[in-house]
Amino acid sequence: IALPSPPPALYPSFYSPGPGDILPDLKFPPGFLFGVDTAAYQVEGATMEEGKGPSAWDWASRQPGTIADNTTADVVDLHYYLYKEDIARIAALGVNSHSFSISWARIFPFGAAGSPINQQGLDHYADVIESHLKANITPVVTLFHWDTPLALEVYYGGFTSPNITDDFINYAKTVFTAYNGSVHTWYTFNEPRVFCGQVGSYPFNLTYAPGVNISTAPYQCSYNLLKAHAGAVKGIEMKITGEIAFKSDDYVGIPWRGNNTDDIAAVERHAAFQIGVFADPVFTTGDWPQILKDTLPPEYLPRLTEDEQKDILGTADFFAIDAYRTFYVAAPPDGLSACVNDSSHPDWPTCNLETQYDSNVGWAVGPAADPLSDWLQATPQFLRDSFKEYHKRWPSPKIYFSEFGFAEPFEGVRQPPEIHDVTEDFMNQDYYMTYLGELLLSIHEDGIPVQGAFAWAMVDNAEWNSGLSSRFGIQFVNYSTPTLERTYKRSAFALAEFFKAHLQ
Ligand code: NOJ
Repeated sequence: IALPSPPPALYPSFYSPGPGDILPDLKFPPGFLFGVDTAAYQVEGATMEEGKGPSAWDWASRQPGTIADNTTADVVDLHYYLYKEDIARIAALGVNSHSFSISWARIFPFGAAGSPINQQGLDHYADVIESHLKANITPVVTLFHWDTPLALEVYYGGFTSPNITDDFINYAKTVFTAYNGSVHTWYTFNEPRVFCGQVGSYPFNLTYAPGVNISTAPYQCSYNLLKAHAGAVKGIEMKITGEIAFKSDDYVGIPWRGNNTDDIAAVERHAAFQIGVFADPVFTTGDWPQILKDTLPPEYLPRLTEDEQKDILGTADFFAIDAYRTFYVAAPPDGLSACVNDSSHPDWPTCNLETQYDSNVGWAVGPAADPLSDWLQATPQFLRDSFKEYHKRWPSPKIYFSEFGFAEPFEGVRQPPEIHDVTEDFMNQDYYMTYLGELLLSIHEDGIPVQGAFAWAMVDNAEWNSGLSSRFGIQFVNYSTPTLERTYKRSAFALAEFFKAHLQ
């Protein structure tokens, strides 16, 4: 597929070009991965085909009221069948990597160790991987992007049960063995904090899969998942060459009132309860952050034994971060502890900055009239600080900026949107340009060893409980066409140009 010329702009760009355009001499380091992301549930479709078992999300999307627009992901982008075309389309952009996930329930329809393997599923991903390699696109493979086999939810409550650990390790070993040598970069888990804390989701608020309502669940899930991660990594160390980590998500946070000590303490708590839950044990201590242990009794947060800590520490070859944005963090007005996301512990003060203060606070340098311009102008300027924090707190020889992206708002646009309503995604384009410019500075000025950047997402897709109404793709998918036609958005052309200018 040859890359078409970008169509003439229909509208002027709303925002100034990012620093990427004024840094022509800065290059990404050799071997840098310029990638796009997807996840199995969000793009594959074919949810009941070729031997696949149902996942928790296949079930959840059928529960009334779960998905904003009542869509399931049964068809979505049909990437399961259209992967060759999708690969050709990203190759035309000059993309050199694709970060995608394998559906556990396609390999083990019933999930469990000892249950039947679906050979068609294994063969499918073998061809997917091979097709990437043939197109010179490095496959980066995630084992688990939230789509727990439904059977395991039914048997024992999915990740709330310690049984999940062995079943996951078994699945991981099967996959590592099958694709050993073809895949160099692996992730065990995508955004475990989001999975265990919200989306997975425990506790279940009837908007997310899989529907468990136990208040201790987020930490039981964290404990089991961490052990599953460590076990899988140990499992491959002996077997394959390559690199492996998990994908952290989000931000350390900026103190809302500069040097205010309460706000600085709040940032620390926030970091511990967000990235730190998984990153501290794996990168620095083997154990939960101290603040978690001080706050949460063992019935909420199972303690890690010394042996477990030894097993967990050092089980990542690099640090991967899905860094979409940066928030301010503040101590709540009553001065109590810190303002972090709901921890499910009854004594924990709940504090949602976005609603507590002002809807702009979460996104902006200061209160401003237009949250979108805040997003574009303010958040990128924290990117360098954020990367310094990641690197300082969770040191690692290499960092991947494993996801970043922006869903162009298209409210007020006719529904379903027509091509030009959403392909002229200037905000998204400027989001990418400003972020990538800052990233170049982070590499060159701050010495942060970033070796890859992955745009979420390759194509519009099923955005969990927002369904198809949130379009993160750098390609528009016209869901009204029988061929699910893809069209490059403005942001795709901008990314292609940027990387051509800065890759060496
Ligand atoms: C991160 C998640 O990994 C991905 O599944 C999701 O679609 C994007 N964020 C956008 O919300």
